[in-house]
Amino acid sequence: MGATIKDVAKEAGVSVMTVSRVINHKDYIADKTRVKVEKALKKLNYMPNMNARNLVTNKTDFLGIVVPDISNPFFGDLVKAAEKIAKERGYSIILGDSDGDPEAENGYIEAFRSRMCDAIILVAPRIDDQKIRELSKAIPLVLVDRMISDDDIIQVYLDNAEGAYSAVTHLINLGHTRIGFIMGPENVPNTYRRKVGYVKALEDHGIAVDEELIVQGDFITETGERAFAELIKLPRRPTAVFGSNDLMAFGFVRAANEAGFSVPGDFSVVGFDDVYLSAMMEPGLTTVKYPIIQMGKQAINVLLDSLSTKETVNLRANLKHELIIRRSTRSILDEEQ
Ligand code: RIB
Repeated sequence: MGATIKDVAKEAGVSVMTVSRVINHKDYIADKTRVKVEKALKKLNYMPNMNARNLVTNKTDFLGIVVPDISNPFFGDLVKAAEKIAKERGYSIILGDSDGDPEAENGYIEAFRSRMCDAIILVAPRIDDQKIRELSKAIPLVLVDRMISDDDIIQVYLDNAEGAYSAVTHLINLGHTRIGFIMGPENVPNTYRRKVGYVKALEDHGIAVDEELIVQGDFITETGERAFAELIKLPRRPTAVFGSNDLMAFGFVRAANEAGFSVPGDFSVVGFDDVYLSAMMEPGLTTVKYPIIQMGKQAINVLLDSLSTKETVNLRANLKHELIIRRSTRSILDEEQ
């Protein structure tokens, strides 16, 4: 059995209370006493009981992060950025991957809230606004990649409609008028903001919205492949496609290639996110850059500032997108349609 706090006190020749103060960095302890206790802790290889320590300090030094899909490099980048800052500031991260299931999202949130974490980084697109408001009263949290009308909740997001508008306008400027749109899942607010941008770009350029060109996806590659299978059946196919995230754009390109079509020869394709693979695929994917790393860093820094100062921070950061033009899109202005 490992050494107890009593053994350490005996070895150092001090009281149990003094050892506890040294372990928990509480109150003033004379240097000489602290050194004696630290030596004894080391000699006996003492491992504190974290549950007991947490009860005393009311801190765990853990932050919980809930994401919908860790296999999407978008969320991998976010978690890495958050982890780096957390570590620099003395915290560790516990990750919950909800796999897009609202019940799993709630399950992680409850576990983090009830005992494990000092604060939560929430990338939970599916739970409802009211639940987020209630949660923010129970535990410090920051909301990432989602906007909610509540100034008391720290939130970092992007205007998804503006990003989608840029993507579709780029295609229109290249001469495309039949532009397919692969939507995200139905229960996610960003899905609708991206649709708003798609529709507005078409309407602003006098192009009628054709519902046949809008297909349902689920933010994963397979649904991009399925979208190709649907769009290719249309009597008047699109000449361009806007995938509302990179993974679905990848799926579309793969299925098109397998069926003997070329990108951008037969279809110009634009994605959304700019995950690192977008630059590596052939041809490189034109896409809307979502500043997710910057977002992750900002979110966690603000959250930890508010934890350390115990002051309420109001932050509603609307970050800016950038259109990254690569070779998956081309002009058809000189071609007969
Ligand atoms: O959940 C998937 C998507 O949501 C990501 O690809 C990113 O676009 C985010 O908003």
